[in-house]
Amino acid sequence: MSRVYLRRARRPCKTTTIYQIYPRSFQDSNGDGIGDLHGILRRLDYLVELGIGTIWLSPIFRSPMADFGYDVSDHTDIEPLFGTLGDFDELLHAVHRRGLKLLLDLVPNHTSDLHPWFLESRSSRHNPKRDWYLWRDPGPNGGPPNNWLSEFGGSAWTFDRRTGQHYGHAFLAQQPDLNWRNAQVRGAVHDVMRFWLARGVDGFRVDAVGHLVKDEQFRDNPVNPEFRQHDPPSKRLLRLYNADLPQVHEMIAGLRSVVDEFPSRLLIGEVYLPFDRLSAYYGSELSGAHFPFNFALLSTAWNARAIAGLVDEYEAALPPGGWPNWVLGNHDKPRIAGRVGIDQARVAAMLLLTLRGTPTLYYGDEIAMPQVAIPAERVQDPFEKNVPGRGHGRDGARTPMQWNATPHAGFSEVEPWLPLADDFHSVNVANQRDDATSIYHLYRRLIATREARLSLQVGAYQPVVAGGDLLLFVRAHPRERTLIALNLGEEAAAVEFRAGRLAGRVLVSALGDRDGEAVDHSIDLRGNEGLLIELSAEADVPASVL
Ligand code: GLC
Repeated sequence: MSRVYLRRARRPCKTTTIYQIYPRSFQDSNGDGIGDLHGILRRLDYLVELGIGTIWLSPIFRSPMADFGYDVSDHTDIEPLFGTLGDFDELLHAVHRRGLKLLLDLVPNHTSDLHPWFLESRSSRHNPKRDWYLWRDPGPNGGPPNNWLSEFGGSAWTFDRRTGQHYGHAFLAQQPDLNWRNAQVRGAVHDVMRFWLARGVDGFRVDAVGHLVKDEQFRDNPVNPEFRQHDPPSKRLLRLYNADLPQVHEMIAGLRSVVDEFPSRLLIGEVYLPFDRLSAYYGSELSGAHFPFNFALLSTAWNARAIAGLVDEYEAALPPGGWPNWVLGNHDKPRIAGRVGIDQARVAAMLLLTLRGTPTLYYGDEIAMPQVAIPAERVQDPFEKNVPGRGHGRDGARTPMQWNATPHAGFSEVEPWLPLADDFHSVNVANQRDDATSIYHLYRRLIATREARLSLQVGAYQPVVAGGDLLLFVRAHPRERTLIALNLGEEAAAVEFRAGRLAGRVLVSALGDRDGEAVDHSIDLRGNEGLLIELSAEADVPASVL
């Protein structure tokens, strides 16, 4: 066992599978209905069993919790709900001892309005920290300085009566934006990073990184002609002047150079952009993020042709040497099982763990936790509270981890902060561990297979053009190749290869009942089935099976 740990410990994070934990919802250890660091510590061996290599924790820093930790009031202390710095050190040590890595969530765009920096900044127009945030005089009509909108509804400006100016906020009024054009701000955030890197964390996922820099003249954003009624309200305008500005890349290069002061650390950017703009976040000559998250699978139409197209598009948009990645779920978007159904959730797992680049898995998706309908009186998410009833709420993807069938699903001794899914009596880790055909065991087999195969870790991506519901591709490494065949439809499907071209053996099948089967000439897939196939050296896969 210790040899395995050692081998993994030297692996760079980016070739491991990342597992996102939403700390409030993973495991409660002190009976307050909210998850905490000791809870995570208790569950580390589960993550080892699952096979993931890197844990990313959503924010655990001191916070008034207006946005559940994404409003930080002290960057270098742990929120008491989650534990203490001592608990964190214990967790980090235990993570490393198991050969795993730990990423923290860095929130550089804004702080809490109760952060000492903001309290000083708002105290007077002449305070030395006034320029650390975005303060502007009212507009000509006495209203906000411009038309920018908050991501969570309403204006991006809040008036401060005491000093007669507005402050800017891309998110809640309780999350004032820092002024990244100010060198002291940059220096202060860099020091926060060093604090955690020196403690041993393996890197950061950087929150809302595309928002860091705003237009120097604070010009109005233009109207978005493609706005549709069910879009989030901030989409009424194009974010031309308040996000994705060219200067943001200098700021990210600054973050990267801090990360590079320490050996083998990772910097991931959270950016929702089309591929052509996303690729700029690798930075010029790869001086930016190691990778910006690729969220395309979170919003794609779930069909084979759409997905084949977007993989090609993504591969083509990557800068030379840019390392790819894929995300299937996170704390801001509806859960995959809710979106594509329980059967396709297996196919989605096979896709996530076989595409080229780092896979990021969201806690609970490995047991196909559902998207939970939250009754109005239990809503917690400020986005849902600001813009109710329009389907923007994020609570449904943040419900407690379903460990077992005991009253609070093994998550807590008391009623949790968000309701549990109704199905936790059947959908839970304990049940799925005992069932070799469960999605949990499929995830384990996929992760283990990925770990064992160079073609899946670092091999090239070679699409095989197919029709209908079939998605086919090869991952090729000089030493071995893996063919991935996925059926995104409910009907059975078959692929005929010309005689002699196909030869191999099934490594992993979606339901676990075909592993080891020999493959020769054709592949038959049941509805919703996927296969990973080890290709023999003589197999000759065409570029198209149409
Ligand atoms: C990111 C986070 C989201 C948060 C927002 C503001 O998008 O993922 O949860 O609300 O930033 O920090």
